[in-house]
Amino acid sequence: MTARRILVTAALPYANGHIHLGHLVEYIQTDIWVRFQKLRGNKCVFVCADDTHGTAIMIRARQEGRSEEAVIADMRDAHVRDFAGFDIAFDNYGSTNSPENRALCHEIWAKIREAGLVKEEAVEQLFDPKEGTFLADRFVRGTCPRCKAENQPGDNCSKCGATYTPAELINPKSTLSGATPEVRSAQHLFIELEKLHSFLAEWTQSGEHLQDEVANYLKGHFLGDTLRNWDVSRPAPYFGFEIPDAPGNYWYVWFDAPIGYIASTHEWCKKHGEQLDDWWKNPDTEVHHFIGKDITYFHTLFWPGMLKTAGFNLPHKVHIHGFLTVGGEKMSKSLGTFVMGSTYLKHLDPAFIRYYYASKLGPRLDDLDLNLDEFIAKVNADLVGKVVNIASRAAKFVAEQTLCESYPSDGGLFEAAAAKADVIADLYERCDYNNAMREIMLLADAANKYVDEKQPWVLRKDPSKAAEVREICSVALNLFRQLALYLSPVLPKLAQQTAELLNVPIQRWDDVRSPLVGTRVSPFKHMLQRVSVEQVQAMTEESKVVDPATAADAPAAPQWNDGPEALAAEPLAAECTIDDFVKVDLRVARILSAEDVLEANKLLKLTLSLGGDSKRQVFAGIKAAYKPEQLVGRLVICVANLKPRQMKFGLSEGMICASGPGGKDVFLLAPDSGAVPGQRVH
Ligand code: MSP
Ligand code: ZN
Repeated sequence: MTARRILVTAALPYANGHIHLGHLVEYIQTDIWVRFQKLRGNKCVFVCADDTHGTAIMIRARQEGRSEEAVIADMRDAHVRDFAGFDIAFDNYGSTNSPENRALCHEIWAKIREAGLVKEEAVEQLFDPKEGTFLADRFVRGTCPRCKAENQPGDNCSKCGATYTPAELINPKSTLSGATPEVRSAQHLFIELEKLHSFLAEWTQSGEHLQDEVANYLKGHFLGDTLRNWDVSRPAPYFGFEIPDAPGNYWYVWFDAPIGYIASTHEWCKKHGEQLDDWWKNPDTEVHHFIGKDITYFHTLFWPGMLKTAGFNLPHKVHIHGFLTVGGEKMSKSLGTFVMGSTYLKHLDPAFIRYYYASKLGPRLDDLDLNLDEFIAKVNADLVGKVVNIASRAAKFVAEQTLCESYPSDGGLFEAAAAKADVIADLYERCDYNNAMREIMLLADAANKYVDEKQPWVLRKDPSKAAEVREICSVALNLFRQLALYLSPVLPKLAQQTAELLNVPIQRWDDVRSPLVGTRVSPFKHMLQRVSVEQVQAMTEESKVVDPATAADAPAAPQWNDGPEALAAEPLAAECTIDDFVKVDLRVARILSAEDVLEANKLLKLTLSLGGDSKRQVFAGIKAAYKPEQLVGRLVICVANLKPRQMKFGLSEGMICASGPGGKDVFLLAPDSGAVPGQRVH
């Protein structure tokens, strides 16, 4: 069999948010597929990158009083760390804000122009006069034109379901500044996708590149009609690449984002002395994209259209997966089921979720449910109870000895497991991981049954049975090694531990067909611990967001009943005038960083942004109530004109407002969502 050349991508995560367990459905699925391909001996390269451009990053940078580059650099570090923590092994992790990507955008754009696919049209959009920027729909809120519900988003009403344009809202407000937006017109550039209609109809419906349900969806929703022009430009200010032949205009983030796949490949090529064209302009290379169903449209219509026009490889396959639910529901910040990757890693082993997702993933687009009880049960039963159990029961009786010089008779177990190699390979290849895991667990059952029946722990008490014990353990460890090999795309650490135990690396799929003989066995080291309910609970507890301003799914306007908890009225301070009050300049501030002051019992050192370049260092006595990592990014109210005070640990340049008696009972004040750093509180 000749080795295939395979380029694999996972969708580029946005640089404006951290990696959560939903994202990881995709990155783990893709990583498994890549590891499988490499194990098969194929030449496979796995690239990804941060998706850095667009309005969201620009706004965030403004709010934090930093450059976009600083914001994306920090997030990149966090993403890289999280991915490594889950054993996701990219061959290159790039950025869409790279010189390689800019050059490729220029090249592809020139080809699209040449092909006569670009058209200019005026677009009316809401403009925030205070912030000096056009507003994407989600940055506008107002009263629903149909049912008159207040404070509705810019595209559809959460009360009556009406859909509308932001300009149709009654009394619209910019969520950035609170200003009333104006309708302004600007010239935008469009790609006339309809001109590629027949190509796209053929490519999507060929039965080769897309799952059937995706092909049918595209046929039913888009291809039966004229394809709409795609608006690919945004007027300044916009964080992105300026369009060379339309100064003052920038490519919309979804234009340069998928080009980031090629740019990241280019970075990899430069590091490895390879030619980009061998990977992207070569019929012998297969390009495989893995994405979630929410971004189907971009990857199955726009993207193939762009690639075709610019003369690059078309995707061999776009593998599309469903969305993660937790306990049958959308991930929820208030229930603690919106779990960040970094939070998971504080409590649990990455192997657990890799195996759990594998055991649930199939080739279709169904959503995948993370049921935490099932998670615990499955990991403990399958990984600890079935797989590792074989090694832990057999290895200790042959530690520091060698396996038998010729493979003993085992009633055909090894042969039977080896005979599954093609079936299991085919399941991996088709992303039918749940069936692959089922097959592998059946083999584990058979191996356990063998060990149960042979009872080496009984035989070893009889010195005359030493040879028999060695044979049983040689069989058991070889059966275990087959399992570790079949599971190695999912559980790379287990494969490595197995290699250390048996002193032979796991490198090729076909190794599953030849038993190890005569090799030395190392002392057995623990491979995987059981998961406990407490660990999972600690993870969800830590994921609960109690701050209603940041809990996206917090219940709307609960009925407050402060009765028993409300304090008896404390006598008020002496009366003051409005003039007294305005002497105190209270501002909205964002916590940029928070550090423990080790030498102080109560203090955390905070850096606050007051908008623009204005920053403050503040020491706050809130250590007992808040962990530093809970604070970073949140908004607080700060006394901004307080006389700075020299403290033992540094200069304190303000105060943040909180209620409560102190100690653990400190409650920071926070503005409602929509407020931005620097706003005055009055
Ligand atoms: N930046 C775009 C992709 C650009 S690709 C040229 C984007 N980023 S994302 O961060 O929102 O999502 C990254 C990937 O994670 C997407 O494929 C998305 O479908 C997937 N998921 C994000 N949340 C998810 C779940 N809750 N469940 C499963 N997959 C999810 O989209
Ligand atoms: Zn309505």
